[in-house]
Amino acid sequence: MNDMTQSAFHKPKVVGQRTPRVDGEFKLTGRAGYTGELHVEGMLYGYPVPATIANGELEALELDEALAMPGVVDIFHHGNFPKLHRSPNSMGHGDQVSEVRLPFEDERIYYHGQYIALVAAESFEQARAAAQRVVARYRQKTGAVSSLLDGDHDSDEEGQLLESAGSSRGDPEAAFDGSAVKIDEVYHIAAESHLQMEMHATLAEWQGEKLVVHESSQGVFYQRNAMARIFDMPQEHLEVISHYIGSGFGNKLFMWPHAVATAGAARELGRPLKVVLPRQQDMMSGGNRPASRQRIRLGADREGRLTSVIHDSTTETSLVDQYVDACGSATPSFYACDNLAVSQRILPVNHGTPCPMRAPGEVSGIFALETAMDELAVALEMDPVELRLKNYAESDPSSGLPWSSKQLDKCLQSAAERFGWAQRNPQIGSMRDGDEIIGYGMASCTWFAGRQPCEARVELRADGTLFAACGTQDIGTGTYTIVAQTVAELTGVKLSDIEVKLGETSLPAGPLSGGSMATATTLPAVAAAVRDALSALKEVATGSGGAFEGADADSLTVADGAFSDGNRTVSFADVLAANRLASVNGKGSSAPGDEQGEYSFRSFGAHFVEVRFDPGISRVRVARVVSTMDIGRAINPPTARNQVEGGIVMGIGMGLFEKLDYDPRDARLINSNVADYIVPVHADAPEIDVELLDYPDFKFNEFGARGVGEIGLTGIAPAISNALYHATGKRYRDLPVTIEALL
Ligand code: MOS
Repeated sequence: MNDMTQSAFHKPKVVGQRTPRVDGEFKLTGRAGYTGELHVEGMLYGYPVPATIANGELEALELDEALAMPGVVDIFHHGNFPKLHRSPNSMGHGDQVSEVRLPFEDERIYYHGQYIALVAAESFEQARAAAQRVVARYRQKTGAVSSLLDGDHDSDEEGQLLESAGSSRGDPEAAFDGSAVKIDEVYHIAAESHLQMEMHATLAEWQGEKLVVHESSQGVFYQRNAMARIFDMPQEHLEVISHYIGSGFGNKLFMWPHAVATAGAARELGRPLKVVLPRQQDMMSGGNRPASRQRIRLGADREGRLTSVIHDSTTETSLVDQYVDACGSATPSFYACDNLAVSQRILPVNHGTPCPMRAPGEVSGIFALETAMDELAVALEMDPVELRLKNYAESDPSSGLPWSSKQLDKCLQSAAERFGWAQRNPQIGSMRDGDEIIGYGMASCTWFAGRQPCEARVELRADGTLFAACGTQDIGTGTYTIVAQTVAELTGVKLSDIEVKLGETSLPAGPLSGGSMATATTLPAVAAAVRDALSALKEVATGSGGAFEGADADSLTVADGAFSDGNRTVSFADVLAANRLASVNGKGSSAPGDEQGEYSFRSFGAHFVEVRFDPGISRVRVARVVSTMDIGRAINPPTARNQVEGGIVMGIGMGLFEKLDYDPRDARLINSNVADYIVPVHADAPEIDVELLDYPDFKFNEFGARGVGEIGLTGIAPAISNALYHATGKRYRDLPVTIEALL
């Protein structure tokens, strides 16, 4: 028997092959409906009014002038907004939100940019003009906390210690004290903005008892569940839709207050309402990566074996919710070391609530840890690659479990070779090219591999086409395409005959597009649904009146959208036609299983970076990045490589440019715009060489894929700071490394 549905993913023909995005044409021809572009009959436009102080109370709103302006229908605020119910905000129950405080809940102001009103008008321009005429009077309070990194809060003891977020093994303090070589340093990273291309957007339409919400969302089911609690209505009366998304990076995982404000106002208005946050408000109240302060202590013996690792982190949260950016979460699994402690503190500041941002926690933690490792290599006069191999963790030192598959040594070797690491002269500032000093730096990187439960549905249709559906989302990473590849692999149906539907809560429940988990979560459920549909169709084919009447269903093989018994080949469409059926359906579900207790699952990689520093004009640029990633199998290599390349560019932003600036006097956000918040542009993008190793991780799932969305960002900032040390002899422990710091 040679049935392609059995172990199809061990020698796949479509999966793992370069596949142009199936939604590419829709995107390029403007037919992909992004939330902000949608229009429904009778729709009004909303524009939020943000608080202009960061700490105090709203004393009064003067609305008369704004209400009298052309096109204005109503203005919502604390005084007239309906009373709603806070979401229980539980990850486990799938009703997590980004900020649990409801919009207009009280008249306290906790952060700059907090919504104090929402104007609804006939046009966007009218709503915006009126919003700018709303006059607010405040009782401002002193004592706003502008940043964890301001002078008053920069200490080991600041913030609330979260016992549950810590971990330890051995006796790290004693081992550190007794170590022959010690590193004990503090690292700071500024708050960052996601700055995703498409702003947060909501379109809410009440249809009688029912509420239909279009949202640019990484998790339609979470939003549906949260809204059901907030509006106290059955989940079945709610539909959340997110077909196309201009990225998210984590700030669209969970719903924000603008969506609640939009849906609540739409109900009062009796008309559909759309709100697209302006960039400024998106940056003030739509999530940020919180600033972090980390202290790392490394102890080692003279041969470079780690004897102790102590990683203490403090990160910001807000006054209206509790967000924990777990900087130490990768540390216990990173290096073989018997004595280790990780601790986590949080400090509330007067900012909009922070949230996950691409590789949350770990990317910050890996900056500190991998910079400290470079410092240790310098102290030991040892090559930094050799130091990492010396402390290589052959199994997960955190759990004691074997890795499902770990090729970090191959990543280090391959990337070092392509980069030309052997040509590095370790002497500081010794490598020059004209006016420029060349610096070489490297770092390892990692991100956990996770899976969630998932359901999917597949329909084989009489016209020969195939339909696959799952309630996950494609945030631009290529989920539509890999679902289509999976279906094509198992059926032999052409990609152009496969329709994929994602991003609706009416579909079978799918995962967040987050945590680099969507691929490993979604595809096994899709595969199960395809197999279910194929067996249903085999039943038809071998049953009464079927194209293979009387044959053994198990003897039929599948290829090119058809069944064969060895003598005859009959297409799925003809099988359906023979029995006058329009379609057959298949359902599938998948979930992580016993393997979770048997192995530890992580992806790994290595980045090598060349910086060029011109001391005469204090100019630094990243000239070259060479990376090798071990992510299991890449389902679609070009889109997987895109993820790593995007992560690398984002890492250059983290390393050299990105910083949300909060005024130390009053905690107002100064640079909530793309002129003053600096991100890398094309001219800052280096030559990038990304290699994806091909070691399918079949212990994780039958696809061998661990996911790739986040890992590329981890390790870039320390590789840059380590290269800068090599060029300048100055150690950069604070991000971003600005021109001023280089002077
Ligand atoms: Mo990612 S921070 O899980 O979008």
